Amino acid sequence: MSSNSITVSRAAQGLRGTITVPGDKSISHRVAILGALGTGSMQVRNYLCSEDCINTLRAMQQLGAEVTPGDCEQNFTLTGTGMQPTAPARDIDCGNSGTGMRLMAGVLASLPFRSRMFGDASLSSRPMKRIIDPLASMGARITACGEKPGCAPLEIEGGTVSPIHYDLPMASAQVKSAVLLAGMLAEGRTSVHQPAITRDHTERLFEHFGIPCTVSEDGLDIAVEGPVVPQNKDITVPGDISSAAFWLVAASIVPGSEVTLLNVGLNPTRDAIITVLRRMGADITITNITEGGEPYGDITVRAPQKLVATEVLKPEIPNLIDEIPVLAVAAAFAEGTTRIRNAAELRVKESDRIATVVGNLRAMGANVEEFPDGMEITGGAPLHGATMDCYGDHRIAMSFLMAGLNADGETTLHNCHSINTSYPGFETHLRSLTQG
Ligand code: S3P
Repeated sequence: MSSNSITVSRAAQGLRGTITVPGDKSISHRVAILGALGTGSMQVRNYLCSEDCINTLRAMQQLGAEVTPGDCEQNFTLTGTGMQPTAPARDIDCGNSGTGMRLMAGVLASLPFRSRMFGDASLSSRPMKRIIDPLASMGARITACGEKPGCAPLEIEGGTVSPIHYDLPMASAQVKSAVLLAGMLAEGRTSVHQPAITRDHTERLFEHFGIPCTVSEDGLDIAVEGPVVPQNKDITVPGDISSAAFWLVAASIVPGSEVTLLNVGLNPTRDAIITVLRRMGADITITNITEGGEPYGDITVRAPQKLVATEVLKPEIPNLIDEIPVLAVAAAFAEGTTRIRNAAELRVKESDRIATVVGNLRAMGANVEEFPDGMEITGGAPLHGATMDCYGDHRIAMSFLMAGLNADGETTLHNCHSINTSYPGFETHLRSLTQG
């Protein structure tokens, strides 16, 4: 567990070393859900043992899935219920995780029992109508009981759902996946159209678990044919590129750095952070690429001579949505004005990430302009250390600790326990890479 406050100062010698970032969060949630419904046992390796994904795994155990420990916490045998789940005895705690709650809603709505999901203060203020609406049109009965309209806790009266075609109003992999997971349990063909390509882990895992799924050539239309029971098959979760992104940026902004990150997921719907950082002049080399269900490889990043500003393109936004806070930090060290627009979705993440990034960048002396759908950052002004909150948001905490590694004086982030929702061991990696 990360301590509550973390303080860093300039990494004068640069960041140096080789680390393996923890397993991918998006993939871990999906493996737990599909494996819990599936038939038979599977070895799961490198599962992300962060609070978010542990909550999802516990929820699946409540539905009757069995977890047999392996040689380390991240490796275990998951035995599914063969689509004969039991009603959860207690309300399901989703903690901080929008992904866990939204994906499980798709499944729970389609199972023959009542369930209730709740989360922490941040999750209880995030929009759930985006999944309730399409699931309701499939016949699901979900009530948002939160103080804030349309928000968790969610009460679900499960039952038979019918297939639909759904046009996603926003580029959201969670909404897409909630509908596809319900579709997997419905009789017939459920299809979605997304306005832009979003992470495709659900589609790739459908293939892994033998679930018939078709994707159009442009990647925007996806269909699943139900009802179907996942066939459990061993899987290794690659490292999370969203966690790797902190070190990609840190090593690009701190002179003298050279960091290697092993076995990082390189799914093309998740790798725009690499494309955009390279466009800014980052020195990133990828080796040992292994293709397969989810491609992965080793990434080496060395501090470049300088970084230059860029404009993040609209189709790139969903592909690096979780990396925008740390990308904004890189932009503060780049020559010129970096434009990040078309990213209003950031306002409904674990915090309002436009407001929290802009506020914290300003606290460190950066020049940044806020827009309803993003920000423009003019780099070059040296940053100074500051004491900041992360607003319960793991990615805000880690992003501004990275900024502190190339700022004058000390940078302290309060409430860093949120880091444990996605990156257990972060502080150990921080210390090992900065102690040269
Ligand atoms: C996720 C999708 C994204 C992302 C989140 C994980 C997923 O959210 O921000 O961290 O695993 O499907 P949206 O679907 O809301 O864009």
